[in-house]
Amino acid sequence: MHDRLAPLYPQHLATLRERADKALALGGFDHLVIAAGMPLRKFLDDQDYPFVASPHFRHWLPLTDAPGSWIVYTPGHKPKLVFLQPKDYWHVVPDAPSGYWVEHFDIVIVRNATDAVAHLPAAGSRRAIIGPEHPLLPGAEANNPPAVLDFLHWYRSYKTPYELELMREASRIGTRAHRAAEQAFREGKSEFDIQLAYLDAARQNDAELPYSNIVCLNEHGAVLHYTHFDRRPPGQSRSFLIDAGASAAGYASDITRTYAAYGHTEFQALVDSMDAAQQGFAAKVRAGQSYPDLHVHAHHVIANVLREHGIIRMSAEAALAGGVTAAFFPHGLGHPIGLQVHDVAGFQQSERGGTIPRPEGHPYLRMTRVLEPGMVVTIEPGLYFIDMLLDELRDQPLASDIHWAKIDFFRPYGGIRIEDDVVCTDGAPENLTRDAFAVS
Ligand code: GLY
Ligand code: MN
Ligand code: MN
Repeated sequence: MHDRLAPLYPQHLATLRERADKALALGGFDHLVIAAGMPLRKFLDDQDYPFVASPHFRHWLPLTDAPGSWIVYTPGHKPKLVFLQPKDYWHVVPDAPSGYWVEHFDIVIVRNATDAVAHLPAAGSRRAIIGPEHPLLPGAEANNPPAVLDFLHWYRSYKTPYELELMREASRIGTRAHRAAEQAFREGKSEFDIQLAYLDAARQNDAELPYSNIVCLNEHGAVLHYTHFDRRPPGQSRSFLIDAGASAAGYASDITRTYAAYGHTEFQALVDSMDAAQQGFAAKVRAGQSYPDLHVHAHHVIANVLREHGIIRMSAEAALAGGVTAAFFPHGLGHPIGLQVHDVAGFQQSERGGTIPRPEGHPYLRMTRVLEPGMVVTIEPGLYFIDMLLDELRDQPLASDIHWAKIDFFRPYGGIRIEDDVVCTDGAPENLTRDAFAVS
């Protein structure tokens, strides 16, 4: 992996420097100062929440475990890493920096967080400090200037070849673990044991994953963010929905698959229809495609899936207008992904900020931009049998065009979501998830 990253890193860094030069000029600053951040302390406790380095810090360096460290970039100068390596025999201290990136940085090693601040451009200089609140560092509060952040966030949407290589790796780790999870499902394991099989195959612990895994057997698939993990297996495992990703040097994958247990042919047929629909949407991740238009298109296609499987009888148009598809598919088609599973700038209008609103009636869509080469988005249509939303449909005139017995038949299966991470290119899309499944 490092052999592939080493030749790509210099260009990645050059791109970040160029963007930083422009962002600083725009905001009227002379220095960009990026905090990795500090672990958050639990209330009235001596324990911390798991540490996650700030995405801006991880953008520059493949360092995920560097609490209290800083990057300083001054246009025209080699970037500097102020690396905190405390003298500490209680905890594992971060390793001294090594690898393909060290030659591109001036590295200063400090032993405590206060010394680190001494190596930053002085208070009073025109420094843009990007990072979370920093209670240990009086006088160095992050100012996060909006003009600088807007510019940097806008360009974070366009992944460099180095970033795409890391996202391919995050996808490979995730699909390898998905395979292990499917096997555990087929063996009749509990949600908890499926989760353990996933972590084991990924070789990542829960805190290292980009988000909390969603591991659902049977009707739990109808809970969009089900993160409960039943310890005991159900009497019968009919269906399995798993939404689980992996990390590679701070980059995320976000992958969902839904499986029918063998012999459950009607649910399998519904999964197959959703899989075909999903691949159709993924194929439309092309430069110039409006993402909200694709989301609305997905509602039409899902209406037809519902019709083909005898769940509704009305036209796709009527199903959309009456909110019927929204009851079965009540979330957005997807979102930008990268350093964060829900990456920044999904609604941003331009490098100067601004917001592109969601289309009316689609309150959960997380991406309203037009796709351009270098963007990576998820494509994750769903079809669920959610009691709360179906109950709201029951009282409406449209209810007579809904086949309620079919819904009762599918309810014990929970729902379906299929999610890939897809790169928009100059030509055909690159499907990171399908490519990774093909080799795992
Ligand atoms: N796993 C969260 C999502 O799919 O957006
Ligand atoms: Mn997602
Ligand atoms: Mn997901």
